[in-house]
Amino acid sequence: MDSQWRISRDSQRGARPRKAVASALPALFAVLLCAAPWGSASAEAEESDSCVECHSDSDLMVTNKKLYDYFLRWGDSIHMQEGVSCHDCHGGSPGISDKKGAHDGSLGGDEATSAVNFRNIPDTCGECHDDIFEGFRKSEHFEQVSSEENEEQQAPTCVTCHGAINVAAPDVTTVEEICQQCHNEDSDNQPENPRKARALLNRLLSIHRYYRYITVRGDPVEMKPFFARIDAQISDLTVTWHSFDLETIEEKTETVLNELKAKRGEVATAYKKDRKQRIERPD
Ligand code: HEC
Ligand code: HEC
Ligand code: HEC
Ligand code: HEC
Ligand code: HEC
Repeated sequence: MDSQWRISRDSQRGARPRKAVASALPALFAVLLCAAPWGSASAEAEESDSCVECHSDSDLMVTNKKLYDYFLRWGDSIHMQEGVSCHDCHGGSPGISDKKGAHDGSLGGDEATSAVNFRNIPDTCGECHDDIFEGFRKSEHFEQVSSEENEEQQAPTCVTCHGAINVAAPDVTTVEEICQQCHNEDSDNQPENPRKARALLNRLLSIHRYYRYITVRGDPVEMKPFFARIDAQISDLTVTWHSFDLETIEEKTETVLNELKAKRGEVATAYKKDRKQRIERPD
């Protein structure tokens, strides 16, 4: 997980996933509290999550290490912390404890009807990240991914950039590498995109840095209207980013960055003045 993106987490709360994870939480707590370390089901669990109960079985470590690793990675993820469980992305019936009943339908990625098949991934993730999905839906990438004409995956989905289980936002270096997989001299498909993506992401990073400075040094009461406005703009940047309309992203990031720079100037001046007064007239 990349801490640089966490800076604005609070600022983006308002636009965050709508699907409350409340349904998954009781089950998860039951597992966490009653069955630690990860293990068998608890009789006290009111709502069970058979997926986690069975997939956390330490026998799997020996019999099916690859499968067990999926569980481990999920156990490290922000989704686990937020109560997003296997069935939220894979489907199936977490209330049924036998394997066949729980799996109930397709779960792996190969079948076209699976929720984690590449065509369906944006929809699956978009169930909760609906604002970002709206942005992504406008992109040429989505067009390519959902086109019936392409039998193989031609363009990135959410997991190409974020991973499937232990999700994180790419940093400037990884984003360039990801874009380069398809946008390069050999493919002759807009080879300039990786460099542009890196520059834009760098600018977003500056936005988060200025934002943090203002949060730390600014007067919280005075800043309230400013934050209300700028938070909405920053959320909108994340949505716009996912449309991959690089020109619009460039314009919008520049506007926000300039506003933050100006505000940072004001805050720094006020802070210095305040400190000087305190030194001259200590009480
Ligand atoms: C009683 C044990 C058990 C339960 C309950 C269970 N699983 Fe599994 N799961 C397994 C085993 C074992 C495998 C390995 C493949 C096999 O044996 O079918 C597996 C395989 C999988 C796979 C890989 C499928 C593939 O095609 O490779 C996914 C995804 C999965 N399970 C998700 C889930 C989800 C989601 C739930 C809950 C709705 C769940 N499992 C409940 C034991 C279980
Ligand atoms: C945030 C959504 C999400 C959660 C939560 C999640 N998965 Fe997945 N999982 C995916 C996606 C998407 C893929 C397909 C990855 C790809 O295409 O690269 C996947 C792939 C898999 C696979 C490989 C299936 C295949 O077809 O090869 C297994 C096994 C698996 N997950 C098990 C689990 C288990 C067990 C849990 C819970 C402990 C879990 N997943 C939680 C989204 C999720
Ligand atoms: C059931 C709801 C749900 C589903 C489905 C879901 N997420 Fe999430 N996701 C959340 C919540 C809640 C958070 C934590 C709050 C936040 O940071 O937005 C989160 C956080 C994230 C983050 C931020 C991680 C970070 O570093 O801060 C990423 C990236 C992400 N999810 C990607 C995905 C992807 C990709 C999928 C599909 C494979 C997916 N999510 C499916 C609910 C969900
Ligand atoms: C898995 C392959 C793949 C990856 C990875 C990928 N793209 Fe693309 N991208 C495509 C394809 C395919 C198209 C459509 C090209 C066409 O229309 O001929 C496209 C189109 C685009 C376009 C043009 C959109 C338009 O409206 O014309 C932009 C901009 C773009 N990608 C940016 C990026 C950026 C930035 C990254 C990395 C963050 C990235 N792409 C990663 C495959 C990919
Ligand atoms: C081509 C790469 C790419 C694709 C495809 C992509 N993202 Fe992102 N995503 C990024 C990058 C880079 C960031 C960081 C920039 C930002 O926050 O605006 C990001 C940010 C995010 C965040 C905020 C992370 C945080 O910590 O605040 C979430 C949530 C997210 N993406 C979910 C999704 C979902 C859901 C999809 C599919 C509908 C998706 N992304 C598709 C590259 C991608």
